[in-house]
Amino acid sequence: MSLTSPIALCLLLSSCGAQALSGHFWHITDLHWDPQYKMSSDPKSVCPSSGSQAVHNAGRWGDYLCDSPWDLIISSIYTMRHILPDPDFILWTGDDTPHVPNEQLGEEAVLQIIANVTHILQEVFPDTKVYSAMGNHDFHPKSQLPAEENSGYLRTAELWGRWLDSSSVVTFRKGAYYTERLLNKSGQRVIVLNTNLYYNQNKLTMDLPDPADQFKWLEQELTSAAASKEKVYIIGHVPPGFFEKKRHTSWFTQHFNERYIEIIRKHHPVIAGQFFGHQHTDSFHMFYDSSGSPISTMFLAPGITPWKTTLPGVENGANNPGIRVFEYDRTTLLVKDMVTYYLNLTHANLVGPRWEKEYRLTESFRVPDASARSMHGVLRQIETDDCALQRYYRFNSVNYDLSRCDSACRTKHVCAIREVDFTRYESCVVTEGVALLSLAPVLLLLPAALSWNPIM
Ligand SMILES: *[C@@H]1O[C@H](CO)[C@@H](O)[C@H](O)[C@H]1NC(C)=O
Ligand SMILES: *[C@@H]1O[C@H](CO)[C@@H](O)[C@H](O)[C@H]1NC(C)=O
Ligand SMILES: *[C@@H]1O[C@H](CO)[C@@H](O)[C@H](O)[C@H]1NC(C)=O
Ligand SMILES: [Zn+2]
Ligand SMILES: [Zn+2]
Repeated sequence: MSLTSPIALCLLLSSCGAQALSGHFWHITDLHWDPQYKMSSDPKSVCPSSGSQAVHNAGRWGDYLCDSPWDLIISSIYTMRHILPDPDFILWTGDDTPHVPNEQLGEEAVLQIIANVTHILQEVFPDTKVYSAMGNHDFHPKSQLPAEENSGYLRTAELWGRWLDSSSVVTFRKGAYYTERLLNKSGQRVIVLNTNLYYNQNKLTMDLPDPADQFKWLEQELTSAAASKEKVYIIGHVPPGFFEKKRHTSWFTQHFNERYIEIIRKHHPVIAGQFFGHQHTDSFHMFYDSSGSPISTMFLAPGITPWKTTLPGVENGANNPGIRVFEYDRTTLLVKDMVTYYLNLTHANLVGPRWEKEYRLTESFRVPDASARSMHGVLRQIETDDCALQRYYRFNSVNYDLSRCDSACRTKHVCAIREVDFTRYESCVVTEGVALLSLAPVLLLLPAALSWNPIM
């Protein structure tokens, strides 16, 4: 028997079967194409998405003050094909249009942008199933996604028709949500949510108990998934819980946040992963049961747009463009690992686009997989090991912000990861701050300690 026979290799690697059980999928989010981006020498006319900010030395691949030029979109999607040409499927969690006032867009412009991005994905991945969620920027006027049928949902369902089963089209038209068996396999399911209905900027839905009956539907789907012994991935755009870069900043209206957590707690045994976007940063949210055991993780993928947020109170909140591959167990849907690739935008504009591996979860945090238990272990490292905190912090902006995450920064990130519940988050911010103070009693002697509140 020669050493290169499959059986000999099996004996050598002792990992036979593992490959067949493992699959890969992409998660991309927040492409935010700015169709008017141009490499202008006039700093005022590079991109509408920079608002009134002057953009100097704009490069071909984009600028941290702007949303994505088409060249960056193309580069990202062809890089996906180069790295992993035949993924099992792609998760795409929304936000395709630029950060400009509503008056500069309109329904036709928004749909044209969604159409172009959809077409390029279909062109580059013609045979790949894409599970696609709408973002708050994929509607006109932005963030005002209605709790009923409307032309935006109907036309988006048409654009995504190739990816949708006929039953999905029915619920999509009603509320831009749907569910399907994952790749039509038994025992596996994807649920695509329209959590823009819970976004606190959405004036149409905030007073409704259950916009578009999505919660009721979600509970039914999870209940029947349990009865059919299925495992489920949930995807959506706007995440529950808190933004880790700014204290006290949450996305959901409170009663929706509570309902969402309640549903995850009740149905967690069938939920194998949650995949969301919207923040443009790389982070995650933990869910725990009443005894404090980790039960679920929501993975927040970094955006492709490098756009520096104008959210007041966030300093220097840009990111490098990031794309992410998940490795998962094709039988149990256990999330086994994730690898994030990124483009150093500064380098790209100086020398040319060079996408690089940023990090692999299991390598960078020495965990066996990306299960809820392991992700809780990652959080414990971030809490207790300063090196892990700084590593996580660089990944959070996709290697854009290489500064140190100080104790105020640590509190924000740790509490946003650990506590999705409003009340628990507030007490976390207090106790984490106090814990740090008691670790460094000398701080109490310094006048500076009186102005403890962070200015980040
Ligand atoms: C977007 O789509 C429109 C209509 O199909 C087409 O005319 C235009 O060239 C596309 N833009 C890009 C950048 O591909
Ligand atoms: C999904 O699988 C079922 C059999 O389990 C088959 O009848 C159906 O046509 C398949 N649907 C698609 C869209 O492939
Ligand atoms: C990105 O590229 C710039 C320019 O080449 C370089 O100065 C910077 O260190 C790079 N950043 C990272 C994280 O490698
Ligand atoms: Zn976005
Ligand atoms: Zn968004």
